[in-house]
Amino acid sequence: MNSCCDQNHSLNLKMPQPQNEDRKKIPRDYYFLKILGEGSFSTVYLTVEAESKKEYAIKVLRKRQIIRENKMEYVNREKKSLLKLGGSDPSSRFFVHLYATFQDSEHLYFVLTYARNGELLDYLARQKTFKIEWVKYYAAELLLALEFMKVKHIIHRDLKPENILFDRKWHILITDFGSSKIVGEPDVLKKSDDTNCRRRKNSFVGTAQYVSPEVLHGEETSYSSDLWAFGCIIYQMISGQTPFRAASEYLIFQKITNLDYQFPEEFDQSAKDLVEKLINLVPEKRLGALDGTSYTSIREHEFFKNTNWDDLGPAPISSEG
Ligand code: ADE
Repeated sequence: MNSCCDQNHSLNLKMPQPQNEDRKKIPRDYYFLKILGEGSFSTVYLTVEAESKKEYAIKVLRKRQIIRENKMEYVNREKKSLLKLGGSDPSSRFFVHLYATFQDSEHLYFVLTYARNGELLDYLARQKTFKIEWVKYYAAELLLALEFMKVKHIIHRDLKPENILFDRKWHILITDFGSSKIVGEPDVLKKSDDTNCRRRKNSFVGTAQYVSPEVLHGEETSYSSDLWAFGCIIYQMISGQTPFRAASEYLIFQKITNLDYQFPEEFDQSAKDLVEKLINLVPEKRLGALDGTSYTSIREHEFFKNTNWDDLGPAPISSEG
């Protein structure tokens, strides 16, 4: 008996220890340096992994609050969508990568790509507007990202400049898939009962500007819902303002529902034509809505006439100034 146990013991000692990458991470594997952002039930930190010295953004989600507010579905959605978008496909480069997940008694942890150059929203606020060549570049990156999401059957549903980050070379990294829908799977977030409608609207507080009318009204969503947001983001990169602006969320919702927006005089003509074709109240009528996985009709729009879709080239912004 003893010898048997001894044998096992010595066997255990000789067993190769799991490689560090293989074992489940714990919070103490990382130095938490500073807060990068706060959400309604999570905080994102800049961290450094102690062993590799690599930087990561870690999203720390508060379990108690998630359960209390019944947000488990949002957390699952985010994880599932990020895992589907990760991998070796070249188009995965446009998305924040989910490297690991772990938990302790109070928190869930998502280890994500650290987007060194922050949010498109902040950069746009500093620049006010983008040169038209920059808009063409980032609209093209966004379109390639939307095409890949379609390949992976994912609708983001909350695309906005706050959720578009920049990596160290100023390429986009799309984040925050908590409101996403995986096409073909039941959509628990969509239910149009009273409580859920109110909750959905609440989740848009302060950022209602990019929401498509069908998402707003709790109706069936499609890939085309992200095309509406795509149009709003192009409009904003050019003019420095969102198309639907008003003093309250209620008034913004009214403007969206009535397609009540105008273009500034000096707005680029081909961009205006593209935005008008994307911001259409009827989802099926938006440019690209009837395309296959490649948004051919958008790619072929005059606005993109000088875009080389096989190689967009280096980003127009550089940290060197
Ligand atoms: N803010 C929110 N998520 C972030 C990330 N992954 N990188 C940098 N800043 C962020």
